[in-house]
Amino acid sequence: MCGIIAYVGDRKCREIIINGLKRLEYRGYDSAGIAVLMKKNSKKNEKQAASENYSINIAKQAGKIAELEKLINDTHIDGCVGIGHTRWATHGAPTQINAHPHMDCKSKIAVVHNGIIENYAELKDELISKGHKFISETDTEVIPHMLEEFNNGDLLIAMQKLLKRIKGSGAIVALNSDTPEEIVAARISSPLVIGIGKDGNFLASDMPAVLEHTRNFMIVNDFETIRIKKGSIEIFDIDGKKITREPFKVNWSITSAEKSGYEDFMLKEIFEQPFGVKETMRGRLSEGILDFKEIDLTSEQIINLEKIHIIACGTSSHAALLGKQLIEKWARIPVEIEVSSEYRYKDPIVEKNCLFIAITQSGETIDTLAAIREAKSKGARIVAITNVVGSTVARESDAVIYTHAGPEIGVCATKTFTAQIIVMYLIAVYLASKTGRLKEENIQEILGELEIIPNKIQSILNNAEQIKKVADQLYKYRTFLFLGRLFGLPIALEGALKLKEISYIHAEGYAAGEMKHGPIALTDTNTTVVGIVPKDSVYEKMLSNIEEVKSRNATIFSVATEGDTQISKYSNYVFSVPKTIEELYGILTIIPLQLLSYYIAKNLGRNVDQPRNLAKSVTVE
Ligand code: G6P
Repeated sequence: MCGIIAYVGDRKCREIIINGLKRLEYRGYDSAGIAVLMKKNSKKNEKQAASENYSINIAKQAGKIAELEKLINDTHIDGCVGIGHTRWATHGAPTQINAHPHMDCKSKIAVVHNGIIENYAELKDELISKGHKFISETDTEVIPHMLEEFNNGDLLIAMQKLLKRIKGSGAIVALNSDTPEEIVAARISSPLVIGIGKDGNFLASDMPAVLEHTRNFMIVNDFETIRIKKGSIEIFDIDGKKITREPFKVNWSITSAEKSGYEDFMLKEIFEQPFGVKETMRGRLSEGILDFKEIDLTSEQIINLEKIHIIACGTSSHAALLGKQLIEKWARIPVEIEVSSEYRYKDPIVEKNCLFIAITQSGETIDTLAAIREAKSKGARIVAITNVVGSTVARESDAVIYTHAGPEIGVCATKTFTAQIIVMYLIAVYLASKTGRLKEENIQEILGELEIIPNKIQSILNNAEQIKKVADQLYKYRTFLFLGRLFGLPIALEGALKLKEISYIHAEGYAAGEMKHGPIALTDTNTTVVGIVPKDSVYEKMLSNIEEVKSRNATIFSVATEGDTQISKYSNYVFSVPKTIEELYGILTIIPLQLLSYYIAKNLGRNVDQPRNLAKSVTVE
């Protein structure tokens, strides 16, 4: 939630900041702003100290980055040191006044912030009593005023004092016109990375924001403060003790963070799934041999596991549900799914011999992070599954399994979901093989099918036009029910989530057998039912459930298996996926559902990459 970017160096930074904000727009897009240090135009300044020659120029605007860009196009705002922000409002409406950056009383310090200051009301009262003037409704505005209070010439020290007073979360980046050669920053919980460039250095909420300038990064940890200059990077702890940190290089290419000819990131990312799935298997599965070093448990430890807990939210929790079904079926280990946002409030039980798996594409979801911290404090061992190298969840876990889907920019998860599912398949088979609870011939069959799954996904994508035609008919419906059983259930839940996220149509995912206990009352001529009906062990049951809603005048779209000759009798529209084994239909049947949501949303003129009210990574509770 909210995106931050900063640059200090030799180059003019306006374009760097605007382009970076566009890449961060998925984190929040209700208002945006930029602050740049610029030299004052006065001759008499020549004899003054260099510091006095600079002022902070700010532009901010409600709406998307394009609005901010329009605003500054005709201005002279530019310089070699600047900060930018794209907002997802938490305190105060998304107006121009509430947009970041925010300033102190003397307009010498400008701040952008991603997070929440929980004790801001108390701090604000204190600052007002000392004479500070506030102009916005935001919690963030206390930060520049506190820095003003604490600043005795070194903004970094002021930042360290600030961290000791505020409660909540945040990545904070500040400029000071008295020290125009530097940018100062701090982090509590919200993501922040340092990009190391040839002609300057960057700070950003996320690596793709600056990927066009550098692939060399350093991570910032909680309660660290940073000073970046053109040619130097310094990291300190909250007490000012210097910390040394090695940079790392990412292999993401800049094209992976661009649309590359696709109309939207979401569509591009849907089409990248064969690649993301293949990359996620690479090095772990090859020619029937499965290697999973990351799990790092002996066969004996695996056999003795009493329980596995999977912590996740949103789309990741649907990968978790499929994972539970797979692990329980193949490895016969009981699995409990924990909704991240609920976990720490229930005084959770952490068994002696248990394993925790945290699934989070961003690695930054605050609830998942808090849940793993709670589990860890009770002695749990945590394995993270994430797409972002060096993310907070990755660093705080005992082991990390990276999905290699590449950066996902569209707010709703598509390619990270299928990459997560692949990891769940691999983990389930791996645990099954270590426990000896699945026959070798079954293992070989599953692994063989997994190796050819990218081609099957590709063949579905080749028929995307068929789904578009269905969407062209269905987009007028206002109620959608997605029904599935067994391995089709997580897919029904995910299909419904995709549709509501990007089209704003009311959609529910349901276990098909539960229809009779309520949802069937919704069914009438205005309802579309999407059935996940592959040829699996519950196929006949699904047919009956579809029949029940069809006879109540719902329109039926079935996702079925190639060669199924019965399904068209029960359905108004059918899309067929290639044959596979029953447990693997999930990864195939989700693809047409992603496309369906995409094309329905496009028909309704929605912004699929940046749906209203949502953000890619939720870093506030
Ligand atoms: C947000 C995103 C979803 C995502 C969820 C969990 O709501 O919009 O797409 O599924 O967060 O994110 P995570 O990074 O923890 O998987």
